[in-house]
Amino acid sequence: DPADLDDRIRAAKQMLGDRVVVLGHFYQREEVVRHADYVGDSFQLATAAKAHPDAEAIVFCGVHFMAETADLLSGADQAVILPNLAAGCSMADMADIDQVEECWEQLAEIYGDMDAADADGLVPVIPVTYMNSSAAIKGFVGRHGGIVCTSSNARTVLEWAFERGRRVLFFPDQHLGRNTAKAMGVPLAQMPMWNPNRPLGGSNADELADARVILWHGFCSVHRRFSVAQIDKARAEHPGVRVIVHPECPMDVVDAADEAGSTDYIRKAIEAATEPTTFAIGTEVNLVQRLAAQHPQHEIFCLDPVVCPCSTMYRIHPGYLAWTLESLVAGEVVNRITVPGDVADPARIALERMLAAKP
Ligand code: 13P
Ligand code: SF4
Repeated sequence: DPADLDDRIRAAKQMLGDRVVVLGHFYQREEVVRHADYVGDSFQLATAAKAHPDAEAIVFCGVHFMAETADLLSGADQAVILPNLAAGCSMADMADIDQVEECWEQLAEIYGDMDAADADGLVPVIPVTYMNSSAAIKGFVGRHGGIVCTSSNARTVLEWAFERGRRVLFFPDQHLGRNTAKAMGVPLAQMPMWNPNRPLGGSNADELADARVILWHGFCSVHRRFSVAQIDKARAEHPGVRVIVHPECPMDVVDAADEAGSTDYIRKAIEAATEPTTFAIGTEVNLVQRLAAQHPQHEIFCLDPVVCPCSTMYRIHPGYLAWTLESLVAGEVVNRITVPGDVADPARIALERMLAAKP
């Protein structure tokens, strides 16, 4: 019974008090978000995880890579808990550490010594990983002079990278990489995509000599569903509609929208609208529905008429939240996420570079 679960979560949280901090990503369902001490995008939640050194446990209602990041940024004796260990991210899984290492070796064959700076002080390639990647990938990036970005700071991070390298290898999300670089004025012709089945070099060596951003083939299965046809339909049916999409959407969708921005950008844009407005939003449906409920003066709907939740975010059922909190009350830590030290040290460096890269 949902009401029972609600009561159990509240009771356990009350008994635990400041010993536990519950973090909830914007894409979590309402029955989970209502119990979160902090609700935010992946950047804000990473900051929140770092900001509570006195809590014994951080219960992360989000997906696996976010819990790993929280573990990297929180204290060594704090436990980060993911209520359901099956809450992964299909995009993060698309950048496999062995494939990334292989790509890096191929790039080294083309560009030479990857650590050697040219006359302008730039190394051949700086690796940049989206937050939506495993700790192993963040560790790779940290070991190779690279940095992490989120959808809210991708441009700032790419600028940071171009101050240090001729080119960027961006993974896992091709769309965030392409949309961000395009907005910075990088021509599409200078954004080749690394393809594991068509090794770089040889016939496409010219393309690579000019490359500014080498894209990875990853994508988000939720944001890939949005289309220009949906935007056209929204504009036809709702004259004056304001269309805002997440930069994980394909480039043609971002180009057809009025604005593109991270989940927190979308939230702030709606909050800042003083006149009643119709918004068509291209991001995960739980966030869109919550924003619609919070802003009855506006008409807010999801561009995709078929409800499209992130199925892995949805795996954080309130029942799991109740179980993890009640276990803590009973003195037991379940579902702890721990990043091993050899990966954690370089991964933390890559994350700290992001936190320090102010616009
Ligand atoms: P942000 O929280 O950075 O907007 O990212 C959206 C997302 O896909 C999280 O998985
Ligand atoms: Fe991963 Fe997309 Fe879900 Fe975000 S919305 S967790 S990128 S699958």
